[in-house]
Amino acid sequence: MAIDLATHFPEHLTLTNGTEIELRPVNNDDREAILGFAQQLPEEDLLFLSMDLTEPTVVDRWLKASASGRSATLCAYAGEQLVGYGNVHREPAPWMQRVGEIRVNIAPQLRSAGLGRIIVSRIFDVAQGMALKKILARMTIEQTGAREVFRKLGFTAEALLADFVEDRKGLSHDLVMMTYDLEGLSDQAGAPVKL
Ligand SMILES: CC(C)(COP(=O)(O)OP(=O)(O)OC[C@H]1O[C@@H](n2cnc3c(N)ncnc32)[C@H](O)[C@@H]1OP(=O)(O)O)[C@@H](O)C(=O)NCCC(=O)NCCS
Repeated sequence: MAIDLATHFPEHLTLTNGTEIELRPVNNDDREAILGFAQQLPEEDLLFLSMDLTEPTVVDRWLKASASGRSATLCAYAGEQLVGYGNVHREPAPWMQRVGEIRVNIAPQLRSAGLGRIIVSRIFDVAQGMALKKILARMTIEQTGAREVFRKLGFTAEALLADFVEDRKGLSHDLVMMTYDLEGLSDQAGAPVKL
């Protein structure tokens, strides 16, 4: 179902552990909350962040992309506290117009309560509203929990790129590219990669 960021949100929901959540599109007022959220992430999460959201300039670029429509971001608040976000980003290159990259991050203390699944599902709806056809999720091969979550959400591992990314300590890691076909044309894709 295609939904529009401006009209569908805010949305209120209750997680399986009883936490009340408000989901709403990001805006400039979320800047400090995003920086605070990223800065309290454990080292193992920070190691694999594809965008370093502990850096104010990176957050500013992210907010700019969201305002421009190239990117759509949903923030999840429990009361005043930012407890997660989901983002879909469209590359500017014309031949990549159909693909959006998804990034999801849930506060460690709220993981496995269903918020990741809800945010991914809303991001799918928003992505359809942006006329995206395919969603890409990138993670390192060591992020086994995230890979399993995305597999459960219907993503397929389509590529494994050796020594492709570097973590904050400068160590290289293999990158897994998982995709979800919003149009259900995945029979046209290559065979799933065996990891
Ligand atoms: C990956 C992530 C977004 C999942 O969010 P979450 O709120 O914990 O996930 P949910 O509670 O909605 O779980 C979704 C499904 O995955 C399962 N799951 C959750 N964590 C899991 C884990 N570590 N290993 C295996 N399965 C897991 C859940 O049981 C659920 O399946 P079910 O509906 O069949 O029961 C979250 O762990 C996270 O923020 N990780 C760090 C950032 C990251 O790696 N992002 C991915 C790259 S963009």
